Amino acid sequence: MTNNYVRIFDTTLRDGEQSPGATMTSAEKLDIAHNLARLGVDIIEAGFPAASPDDLEAVRRIALEVGNPADGRPDAKVPVIAGLARANKVDIDKAWEAVQGARRPRIHTFLATSAIHMKHKLKMDPEDVVQRVAETVAYARSFCDDVEFSPEDAGRSDPEFLYVVLGEAIKAGATTLNIPDTVGYTTPDEFYNLIDGIIKYTPGMHEGITISVHCHDDLGMATANTLAGIRAGARQAEVTMNGIGERAGNTSLEEVVMALKTRNPIFNLETGIETQQLSRMSKLVSNYTGIVVQPNKAIVGSNAFAHEAGIHQDGMLKHQTTYEIMRPEDVGVSQTNLVLGKHSGRHALRNRLAEMGHSLDEVELDKAFARFKELADRKKIITDLDLEAVIADEFYKPRDVYLLNGLQVSCGTMGMPTASIRLRGPDGVVHTVASIGTGPVDATYKAIDSIVNIPCTLLEFNIHAITEGIDALGEVTVRIQAENGQHTMDAQSEVQHVRVYGGHGADSDIIVASAKAYINALNKLIIARTEGTEKVKNDFGVMLG
Ligand code: KIV
Ligand code: ZN
Repeated sequence: MTNNYVRIFDTTLRDGEQSPGATMTSAEKLDIAHNLARLGVDIIEAGFPAASPDDLEAVRRIALEVGNPADGRPDAKVPVIAGLARANKVDIDKAWEAVQGARRPRIHTFLATSAIHMKHKLKMDPEDVVQRVAETVAYARSFCDDVEFSPEDAGRSDPEFLYVVLGEAIKAGATTLNIPDTVGYTTPDEFYNLIDGIIKYTPGMHEGITISVHCHDDLGMATANTLAGIRAGARQAEVTMNGIGERAGNTSLEEVVMALKTRNPIFNLETGIETQQLSRMSKLVSNYTGIVVQPNKAIVGSNAFAHEAGIHQDGMLKHQTTYEIMRPEDVGVSQTNLVLGKHSGRHALRNRLAEMGHSLDEVELDKAFARFKELADRKKIITDLDLEAVIADEFYKPRDVYLLNGLQVSCGTMGMPTASIRLRGPDGVVHTVASIGTGPVDATYKAIDSIVNIPCTLLEFNIHAITEGIDALGEVTVRIQAENGQHTMDAQSEVQHVRVYGGHGADSDIIVASAKAYINALNKLIIARTEGTEKVKNDFGVMLG
């Protein structure tokens, strides 16, 4: 590995999944992992196996299926698969159980080192922290050659103390030292100095150790801090797609990768990311999590390459570089508008989907083609964005527990908005119900509720048109929370959060899209309950030995 290569460590499935509402099913996690591998990430942090048997199983499947080449070729490139573990034997055992099937497994363990965390959270003396780090890293190393250690809340830790802790981690066999700004507190200058000091003053530091950076975005500086850390010598960046993660989120993968690429003369560094896949990957994560990407989000927001102001449009027409520092096609934003139409055949659809990175089997292609034809009857021009929405709607969704079988809505100024709905239930029985509501969506959701009968709160409802024009496809994302819902626990806090489920639906009829999104989220909730994904609250203080 040359020293101008920055490894991309993606933690969408671990730190990203910790963000409220980002709950994903095991099948969705596996699909994201496959796509991250195709994107070219070097390390996939697949989850926190000690959280629950279901989380462990999801990481184990990713390790086996994504962490090994499909064709078994010994020289094929596969990502490292990492599992997170708190600094105790139980967590490390579980992390190893989960990742050991990968060709290149990694155990990532962490313990807090800031005075605030040691005193109030861990209730441990600094000397005991040092000893625990040495013991747990050595324990992880007894299973796995690739061990990463993170001093949690490093951004607020005493640098002198960090040198001691990190020195012990090196002695015990850690191969990557990840420096987290856990609460997004530092500024780029401070973070540069922190990384610089660690590289210079940590006892035993040598070339075989990779320094990594992991920043949170509480003050909006995560990307700037990550880049500052890289400039100081870090050669691994921990990031998530769309920047999802705890509170304000993590550093976003697409921002770091495109900054390194676009400003290459300054950084002179490279990554292994195929940037043309960024836009598609962003959509995939957004659809699965139900977390909408803000339109003005750098790189992947819907407005990132839109030029509205007249003076900008004028400049763009004269020369693209006047207002554009990256080409949209470099991040996979298609410039071609007209892709397919009513008369396009199955073959053309298959080819276009393959170009977009979706290789479907015959059965899937049949389904996609049926949806495409249905859409082409209502919409003259089918763009890549429409196709992405159809694919997401048809394939990137949980198993159908309840399936929309028919919907009729009447609304307007003349009467009560009424929805009549037919849903096929898990027992195969078709239920038909009519409800009134304050509007067509309310009436539809009430009708669905009366069939599914799981009291829940609609936390968020978003609707937008995928393309321009009156015949555009509408895309709806929702986030719901069940009353008395399941709890979830993340690796870093002892606090239990009630799970939030996201759902996605697309249709040229926005009420149908709304119904699909809601049913999609309810199906996830039901699957999570029946598959027992409820996270087991572990005792934070499980000690070594
Ligand atoms: O933010 C953080 O400190 C973490 C660690 C577990 C690396 O996510
Ligand atoms: Zn984090």
